[in-house]
Order: sequence, then C-alpha cells, then structure tokens
Amino acid sequence: MDPIRVGGIGCGPVSTSMHLSAIQRLPELELVALCDIDETRLAEVASRLGVSETFVDFEEMLDSGLIDAVSCVGPPSLHVLGASACLRRQIPFMTEKPLVLHEEDARALEWLADEFGDCGQVGYTSRCAPAQRVAWNVTRTREFGPICYVATTHLSYAGMGPYWDIEDPVEGFVNLHGVHAIDLRR
Ligand SMILES: NC(=O)c1ccc[n+]([C@@H]2O[C@H](COP(=O)([O-])OP(=O)(O)OC[C@H]3O[C@@H](n4cnc5c(N)ncnc54)[C@H](O)[C@@H]3O)[C@@H](O)[C@H]2O)c1
Repeated sequence: MDPIRVGGIGCGPVSTSMHLSAIQRLPELELVALCDIDETRLAEVASRLGVSETFVDFEEMLDSGLIDAVSCVGPPSLHVLGASACLRRQIPFMTEKPLVLHEEDARALEWLADEFGDCGQVGYTSRCAPAQRVAWNVTRTREFGPICYVATTHLSYAGMGPYWDIEDPVEGFVNLHGVHAIDLRR
C-alpha cells in the first residue's frame, strides 16, 4: 500500500519536534507538504525536514491534490480554521489540543461534522503516556469500583501564560494543560 500523504499546517516548535518528526518516522505516512504563514519559518522547516512542497495558504494545500491527510498544530484559532476546512473537504485530520477556546467554535465544528462526516481527531497524546495507561487499566477493573473523585497534578516547565488571547492566567493554564486532566477524567 502507498503511504498516506500528509500535509502539515503550522510549523511551530511542537508541530515540528513532535508531530512532523513522528510522521517522518512512520512508514505508513509520508510528509509531502508544509504550510505556514511565516515564510521564513516555513522555508527553514521545509529545508530541515526535506519537504519540497510549501504553501502559505492552507486552503491551497488542501486543494492541491498532493495530500491525503492533515496534521494541524498551532494555536486553537488555527485548529478551528484547519478543522473547518478539512471537514468541508472530508480530508482526514488531526489537531493538537485544545481544539477550540470558545463554545460557539465547538458547536460550529460539531455542525460541520454532522453535515459532512466526522473525519478528525484531537491529539490527546497524554492518553498514551504510561501513567495514564496504568490509570486507565486500573480503573476499569471490577475491584476498583465507580470513580467518585479525581485529583490530578500537572508538572510543567511552562509558566502561567498568558496563552493565546486568554487574559486570566488560570483559565489559560486550564486550556493549555488542564485539558489533559479533564480528558483523562472523561
Ligand atoms: N500534547 C501535548 O502534550 C502538548 C504540549 C505542548 C503544546 N501542545 C499544543 O501544541 C500547540 C502549539 O504548537 P506549536 O508550538 O507548534 O505552535 P505555535 O503556536 O508556536 O506556532 C504556530 C505556527 O502556526 C503558524 N500559523 C498561524 N496561523 C496560521 C495559518 N492561518 N496558516 C498557516 N500557519 C499558521 C504560525 O506562523 C506558527 O509558525 C498548542 O495547541 C498546544 O496546546 C501540546
């Protein structure tokens, strides 16, 4: 089977060091195109990763016929734009967390997924972390019983923001890091 051709939207540090480099290590996937509005960064990352097709407009990349799937990683505002465009075209995609910051954006994406079909996933990578796998397995045993309270501690190198357009540092921290704990609870 030919590898799935992936286009990357967003060439920031998490995208390049975690997502795009992981895609390049998987034989089932091929990183064929990159998009970023920052042309200097785009050129540097494309050269470093050896990707020849570059775009500053992600809609052009989606319509190029070059890609089968998308990795969209950046601020939540970019996830919303990328997810909307991929849902409309039914191009499978993955975004980073959080997918959205505002309920109305979540509702709009839900509507698109209902209308066109859900072809996306939010990459809650912490689900695969060893400690979370242990928690998952333990809490599913009969002896454990129902969960009535969850307390989590998140250790991070990052400060208290501000993140994106969120003024309240606690709200910013919850959106950036707390979402992993909320996802684990769910
Ligand atoms: N899963 C985890 O454990 C984990 C850990 C840390 C961060 N994250 C997530 O990673 C994301 C941050 O990733 P990053 O550091 O790579 O991103 P970043 O925000 O540093 O960079 C975003 C890039 O997207 C580009 N961009 C912005 N708008 C664009 C558009 N319309 N079209 C094309 N490109 C556009 C910018 O020029 C920039 O290069 C956040 O969502 C954060 O929550 C996840």
